[in-house]
Amino acid sequence: MDSPIWQPFTQMKTAPPRLKVKRGRGIFLELEDGRQVMDCISSWWVTLHGHSHPQLAEALYQQAQTLEHVIFAGFTHDPAEQLARRVLNHLPAGLRRVFFSDNGSTAVEVALKMAYQYWQNQGEPQRTRFLAFEGGYHGDTVGAMAVGRGSCWWQSYDPLLFQTDLVPFPATFEADQAVESKETQALAAVEQFLQQQGHCYAGIFIEPLVQGAGGMRMCRPTFLQALADLARRSHLLLIYDEVMTGFGRTGELFACLKSSTCPDLICLSKGLSGGCLPLAMTIATEAIYQAFYSDDATQAFYHGHSYTGNPLACATGLASLNLLEADPMVYQGMESWHRQWMDKWLRDHPLIEHWRVCGTISAMDVKTPGEGGYFSAIAPTLKARFLEAGLLLRPLGNTIYLLPPYCITPSQLGLIYQGIRDVLDTL
Ligand SMILES: Cc1ncc(COP(=O)(O)O)c(C=O)c1O
Repeated sequence: MDSPIWQPFTQMKTAPPRLKVKRGRGIFLELEDGRQVMDCISSWWVTLHGHSHPQLAEALYQQAQTLEHVIFAGFTHDPAEQLARRVLNHLPAGLRRVFFSDNGSTAVEVALKMAYQYWQNQGEPQRTRFLAFEGGYHGDTVGAMAVGRGSCWWQSYDPLLFQTDLVPFPATFEADQAVESKETQALAAVEQFLQQQGHCYAGIFIEPLVQGAGGMRMCRPTFLQALADLARRSHLLLIYDEVMTGFGRTGELFACLKSSTCPDLICLSKGLSGGCLPLAMTIATEAIYQAFYSDDATQAFYHGHSYTGNPLACATGLASLNLLEADPMVYQGMESWHRQWMDKWLRDHPLIEHWRVCGTISAMDVKTPGEGGYFSAIAPTLKARFLEAGLLLRPLGNTIYLLPPYCITPSQLGLIYQGIRDVLDTL
């Protein structure tokens, strides 16, 4: 019998055979047939320090012998308390209250519900709508899909989703001549929605600096600053989904730091546990927290998951923060390596356009005679050829992107660029 496992984000009928991984070490995965594959995308964008990191393994082992789990309502524990404080130490001072959950979608779902109920508790129950960006992806739960209407995976569920109004995302790339007009257009679209029905909006969701699943589309920090000003003036809660961009991905620990902006709510997951275990946080300003803090029981935030604040995940999160704090250069230095290898291997390649880079993330589009976008026919071919070349890369349609673990060396990164060039030359 073939495997009973129904895989995520996979058309099971047409997908190539799944690959069994025996072990992982650093940037390498070892397959059952003995092949070594270089993980160029940190698994599902989670593996910050490389696979099977000894310090994370040790933290997990120690914690498992002490406390593996406890109900998080009415109880707390040191790993969660410490992790909450240490993450807050790295965020803008306005963000003060940490709500744990266990994956990116639930972090978004929590932010959504908090923003919605915040206005009810504040006596403005008409603020029920959300703004979000075209190309935005915020997860697969029903609320996260509704604010992720800008992506392409929700259509089957349309009748289940609440209305979200979409604004164009000013996606830009190196030497983009149109960036300013794109930003002006995006801000004008937000303003127009606000003029039409500003009193109905609870908040605006954005993946700051880099839209992940939408195709590693990047915007400038100045755009976020203008958006943050506009949100502030319009009493719109600004909600940053840093599930992917958090923990160094953009070259700073968080995109909000890189853009010198402070959202009202921020969603974190993926790299939070160092990529070991499911863990997430939604962090709110004091003003939001205070809107729930009441003698009235109905004003509490009724939300929680069985594995909320799990001690094992928090322990690996602390070990991961130790590594990030000990050597920030692991994420701060990578952009210059990307530039160097892009120049050497790919910048002038005739099939490449729209190269963009933000910290540890580099992305480029492959020119294709057919349709671009996520369902581009070129994607499965690229993926298969990269794998043959020993590279785990999962193009988003015709977009190739790199998002490597921070333990990668400059020469290993160079080999990935060279490998991409070699594959493109076979097309
Ligand atoms: C920006 C963003 N938000 C939310 C999610 C959902 O996270 P998860 O897959 O952990 O539910 C993702 C996942 O890729 C993401 O990139």
